[in-house]
Amino acid sequence: MKKRLFSLTIFLLLIASVFVFRLNTESTPLDDKPIDEANLDHKEDKPAEIEVEKDYKPEEEDKEDLLTGTSFVDDEGKVIVKNTDDILVLVNKNRNLPSDYVPEDLVVPNVRFPFEEFHEKKQMRKEAAKALEELFKAAEEEGIYLFAISGYRSYERQKYLFDIRAERDGFEEANKLTAYPGQSEHQTGLAMDVSCQSLGFDLNEKFGQTVEGIWLKENAHRFGFIIRYEKDKVDITGYSYEPWHIRYVGKDAAKEIYEKNITLEEYLGDKTSIPVQK
Ligand code: DAL
Ligand code: ZN
Repeated sequence: MKKRLFSLTIFLLLIASVFVFRLNTESTPLDDKPIDEANLDHKEDKPAEIEVEKDYKPEEEDKEDLLTGTSFVDDEGKVIVKNTDDILVLVNKNRNLPSDYVPEDLVVPNVRFPFEEFHEKKQMRKEAAKALEELFKAAEEEGIYLFAISGYRSYERQKYLFDIRAERDGFEEANKLTAYPGQSEHQTGLAMDVSCQSLGFDLNEKFGQTVEGIWLKENAHRFGFIIRYEKDKVDITGYSYEPWHIRYVGKDAAKEIYEKNITLEEYLGDKTSIPVQK
């Protein structure tokens, strides 16, 4: 009898220990965590990935930086650009050059003009003039004969031209093609109007369809120039289509602007809307 009781006790003890063992191994603390928390633990195991995310900066933010600190508002509420000598200076209907700004390094580029005598409009800033010479030379090597028509314009000359047109056509009509004094890229010394013999050296939209105009559109960026006022960008630039007006911005910017088909405003991250007359 004693022996039976002993065997029964051992049997019951065995069953009890198996039960206790199963209770301990059925779930671990990690399994109890919700899935999200478990994923967090997983991320914490990889600090390098978090570092990469912190360093990421959207492209748009970088572009905004290109205009930061480049202007101030004068007593009359006009925005005046401060980086006047910058190759990437942005001058448009919202951003004025100081009326007394004259670039210090104006030179006459060694390119073809339809007139012989000196005129202030033959000039460009030195870096832009050199790039223009290379552009014209490359065109000529392909049998394309470009003519330089109008480069640097003083504030006073822009005022003279604008006033004549505004008197004839009214302010709004004049301002579709001619910048208000202080708002012309020609005053920067970085712009040149280009034409060809078949148009009698005129500056009109037909230039865009000439072999010279087509060549210029396809190749200007290789020398650091952009077609500044494109047909489908009037709402951004504020000016009518001007296939003849090229602006020097340097090769890197010109390449990006050409390849992305964007304006200088977009390239620089300018979000100020331009007044456009309809
Ligand atoms: N034709 C351009 C807009 C200018 O007058 O500067
Ligand atoms: Zn022009």
